[in-house]
Amino acid sequence: MPKVLTVVGARPQFVKAGVLAKVLAQLGDAAPFEEVMVHTGQHYDANMSDVFFQDLGIPAPKHALGVGSGTSGYQVGKIMEGLQEIVGAEKPTAILGYGDTNSTLAAALTATHLNIPFIHLESGERVFRRFEVPEEINRVIADNAAHLCLTSTRRAQRYLMREGFHPDRVRFVGDTMYDLFLQGKAVYRDRATMHPADFGVEEGGYHLATIHRAQNTTSPAVLLPILEAMDRSDLPVLFPIHPRTRKVAEEAGWTPKQSLKFIDPLGYYEFLSVLLGCVRVVTDSGGVTRESFFALKPCIIPMENSWWVEIVESGWAVEVGTDADVLGDALNSFVPANPAPVGLFGDGESGQRMVEEIGKFVGQESIGDGRWHRMGSLPELPVAASTTLTNTRYREILRGLKSDGYEFVAFPDLEAARSQSRKVALMRHDIDFDLGAALQMALIEKEEGVHATYFLMVRTDHYNVFSENGASMVRQILDAGHSLALHFDCASYPLSMSREELAEACDREAKMLESWLSRPVEVVSYHRPAADVLTGDPAFSAPRPHTYMKTFTEGDIAYMSDSRGVWAKGDPLDSVARQEGKHLHILVHPIWWQDIATSPFEVLQQYADRKSETLARSMAANCKVYQVGWLASEGSK
Ligand code: UD1
Ligand code: UDP
Repeated sequence: MPKVLTVVGARPQFVKAGVLAKVLAQLGDAAPFEEVMVHTGQHYDANMSDVFFQDLGIPAPKHALGVGSGTSGYQVGKIMEGLQEIVGAEKPTAILGYGDTNSTLAAALTATHLNIPFIHLESGERVFRRFEVPEEINRVIADNAAHLCLTSTRRAQRYLMREGFHPDRVRFVGDTMYDLFLQGKAVYRDRATMHPADFGVEEGGYHLATIHRAQNTTSPAVLLPILEAMDRSDLPVLFPIHPRTRKVAEEAGWTPKQSLKFIDPLGYYEFLSVLLGCVRVVTDSGGVTRESFFALKPCIIPMENSWWVEIVESGWAVEVGTDADVLGDALNSFVPANPAPVGLFGDGESGQRMVEEIGKFVGQESIGDGRWHRMGSLPELPVAASTTLTNTRYREILRGLKSDGYEFVAFPDLEAARSQSRKVALMRHDIDFDLGAALQMALIEKEEGVHATYFLMVRTDHYNVFSENGASMVRQILDAGHSLALHFDCASYPLSMSREELAEACDREAKMLESWLSRPVEVVSYHRPAADVLTGDPAFSAPRPHTYMKTFTEGDIAYMSDSRGVWAKGDPLDSVARQEGKHLHILVHPIWWQDIATSPFEVLQQYADRKSETLARSMAANCKVYQVGWLASEGSK
């Protein structure tokens, strides 16, 4: 049976470990893997650690590292050292880590260093800031180290996609803390040993607070105004205080005077009881923000931006930064604007899904071969290979053909050349994607005194010859002395169309180009042609000829193409046809030809990247809310 080594160490991880323990216990012998737990000892006070094992029925960890408090360097180093020994002895199939603590980071690094696949639960959340937010970098590193990223929200899944994670590496399972909340809500009245009245407050007559984030507790100058604002609240504020926060307040000699009540950290069910009985919550805890939302309690977050931003967007939490007055006002009056949305954190069955996904992962025959590329697994990735399609080579080809006596003519001039026994090259460019690359090539040809025919599309998502930018590029191509032709996308019309109907559609598109650009369109090439188009039947594009017609491809003329970024029958200069002095019909897709040799895969990847940038810019230009960061200045261009 596969063995998963779970690494926990801090309070939020015990809570999650409770969910996994319960699902595995329910599955019994049917569980798809065995769990072996390591407690790092990052949190060690009984009310920060043991209480959760008791409350949630989590079996005692098999290994305890007991690292305790210290600098991040101490904690991460100590945990890694201890874990390496345990991994050596246990030989787990995978290591599982939760969230964003130093224990998580140490587990992720240990796993990668020992070539053990890492599984990361609560992956992908981001606040996009690092200063005084060690959790952000911990999570980013853990995500990147992970073979399997299990997310609590759809948003986190999308963040990972944007960061280039392969979809197979990311699974949305929902929030295990929601499972636990639902289970706890049903039993907390009996299970909790203390309720609000035991703290001197009445249900529905107090607020609840937890503050412990580094950014709020590193300096008393930030923490004390927050505490003072809560102390001025109209209602009492119950504050189960994290040891870190208590230390800072005590060292500053600060004590509550009016509404704030410091109490010791609570066990899970006691905490649920005070949560479900309160009016509003003030918290910078990621767990408590979600639990407030699950409990339908308006939540005030003393941060400028927080995790679980969906809750802020829903109107059920408000970020007040460190402005104590804003916090104080919100504490007395904040009311959510909208009904609470359902399903943001799953359906309460995340634990089962998590076990299923982990089970599938560790049950694979071969796991952990470190396949990270967003496009696929290692065998599916493009293999680097040299390419000859450079602009320098293109010039050499043109010069070579010219020195052979080839004339570069338009398609309608082929017949005349044949009758006069001249030797011609039809330089054809089908513009499938990149109009910018077409213009570059057109200018090279102009410098070399070469005529080519540019086949442009009317119906395509890739460029628009009718836009200001598109039309300007096409005019420059035509001004360089080239011919205009139609690249007709058969696949954008229904398959059921007859050849006459296709010809009609083709004629319509050609006429649009002609009237827009005031140039004749005398020939058509097909994009994504249906099989019978390939027979060369002229009826498909009548009255204009098309490039698959035999007159352009057979007999005294040789057809060659760089489709897919390689010369299928060799470079034109090296071709037998050239040696034999045949007419040449050369299809060149400008996109493949670059100043520096670049593989076709990379060319298309760069093109796709440029397209998505252009899309973002055009949205920013039109829509203020998207004008952030570099898009703010670029958007208006
Ligand atoms: C850690 C996590 C944070 C998480 C929080 C949950 C990191 C970087 N941060 O922060 O993401 O939200 O846990 O509570 O891992 N202390 C005790 N007794 C304890 C534990 C801590 O007194 O049992 C005191 C010590 O003074 C310690 C301080 O709290 O130095 C901070 O503890 P630490 O584990 O380093 O970070 P947290 O602030 O708890
Ligand atoms: N919690 C608790 N008692 C407390 C405070 C918190 O049981 O006094 C629970 C609660 O379920 C919370 C979880 O511990 O969601 C996580 O704790 P914490 O706020 O320390 O961590 P974070 O979620 O900010 O990482």
